[in-house]
Amino acid sequence: AARSAASLRSPIVCIMGHVDTGKTKLLDKIRQTNVQEGEAGGITQQIGATFFAKETLKDKVAVLAQEAGLEVRLPGMLVIDTPGHESFTNLRSRGSSLCDIAILVIDLMHGLEPQTIESLNLLRSKRTPFVVALNKIDRCYGWKATADGSSRLSLQGQDGATREEFETRAARVRMELNERGLNAELYWKNEDPASTVSLVPTSAITGEGIPDLLLWITRLTQERLTEQIMFMPDLLECTVLEVKAVEGLGMTIDTIIVNGALRENDRIVVCTLDGPVVTSIRAVLTPPPSRELRIKSEYIHHKEIYGAMGVKICAQGIERAIAGTPIMVIGKDDNEDDIKEEVMKDFTNVMKMDLDTRGVIVQASTLGALEALMQFLRKECDPPIPVSSVNIGPIYRRDVMRASIMLEKGKPEYATILAFDVRIDADARAYAEEVGVRIFTADIIYHLFDQFTAFMANLME
Ligand code: GTP
Ligand code: MG
Ligand code: NA
Repeated sequence: AARSAASLRSPIVCIMGHVDTGKTKLLDKIRQTNVQEGEAGGITQQIGATFFAKETLKDKVAVLAQEAGLEVRLPGMLVIDTPGHESFTNLRSRGSSLCDIAILVIDLMHGLEPQTIESLNLLRSKRTPFVVALNKIDRCYGWKATADGSSRLSLQGQDGATREEFETRAARVRMELNERGLNAELYWKNEDPASTVSLVPTSAITGEGIPDLLLWITRLTQERLTEQIMFMPDLLECTVLEVKAVEGLGMTIDTIIVNGALRENDRIVVCTLDGPVVTSIRAVLTPPPSRELRIKSEYIHHKEIYGAMGVKICAQGIERAIAGTPIMVIGKDDNEDDIKEEVMKDFTNVMKMDLDTRGVIVQASTLGALEALMQFLRKECDPPIPVSSVNIGPIYRRDVMRASIMLEKGKPEYATILAFDVRIDADARAYAEEVGVRIFTADIIYHLFDQFTAFMANLME
């Protein structure tokens, strides 16, 4: 159905927080899926997106809505899942810059942790409103669960000692937030949401608190962020998350449309490793509502789709599109060259990164993963691993040739390619063996570091 400018778009909600606080599990509970159990090492390494339709929202908040006098006016909600592992600062940053409001998940048992603090700083620097989910309340000793119930009501029904444990732990989190200059209060006691952060107790295992969380976010966005989430039909805001080959579809790009609309056959400009590519949209696809965009599903075809939405685009010439860059539509009156330059701007900046004259080659599947790997190798590894060259995409013979230059420079240990989540061409693999270039591959970033340090230690012996 066509949408008018006077309506609200779905807000984008970003879930952030320290590793293993339960971000993906909370979403699994809302979706009734098992995405978390399918993740390598149980950790999230990509940005995900799930659209919840208005009907789902109404259904999920039903136990509280009547009492709260809430009428859902949002057309839906697009929820973005981010990784909590320390290596993915760039993806948290991207997620937080895409969203209208955030859920910062804190493990009630652990309190504030390093990436909680990092997330807090990101949210503050971008002035993004957020609520805190105090997750894993079911781990309070003697917890009596009411499946999918309101956590406020559940708490009232706990034994004295259980409630006391919760109160003590919640008070500790409140104090830790206070120490960082933030006022925080359990949401039902929060009389001033503009200056005080709301704490919403949740459990991703029992589903308690999910009604409270969704109700609170719905309220904040439709009552306080109406300007921000006005639908703008002519102002496309769209970001590439990932490039993926999908059986039967060919090359596709997963994107987030924040605002505006995309249509089949639109002429778009995409930022690729080979420069700006002008192409037209062959298909606009989404997973069904309440399903994760990053998981393969029965996609729905659309003639036209509105922001906010997680969308898969099929088009030609997009193989080397770069995650994190914008997609723009060429309108009738637009200057194509201006749009090409605008689309390439961010990538141009990242590729200006300083490199070492002697060091390993780093190759990753996306710009985001590459940035994360670089951050990890140079800032978090001890000692840091020097990097002489970077690339995005599969490994070919020419990449092995670049690595072999380190043999000539008398640094055989750096004749190494650290490859994250990329395919190795058969010819490249054979050539690497022939000339003595090592290729370490992993789908978890810090395993690359482990392999490389083990290899270095072996050399020392
Ligand atoms: P990253 O994406 O890797 O940062 O982790 P995450 O924040 O998405 O956490 P994830 O959903 O992977 O959950 C981590 C672990 O905590 C899993 O073993 C979950 O089963 C467990 N867990 C998550 N939420 C809860 C909860 O509310 N209660 C209990 N008891 N366990 C939970
Ligand atoms: Mg996760
Ligand atoms: Na995890």
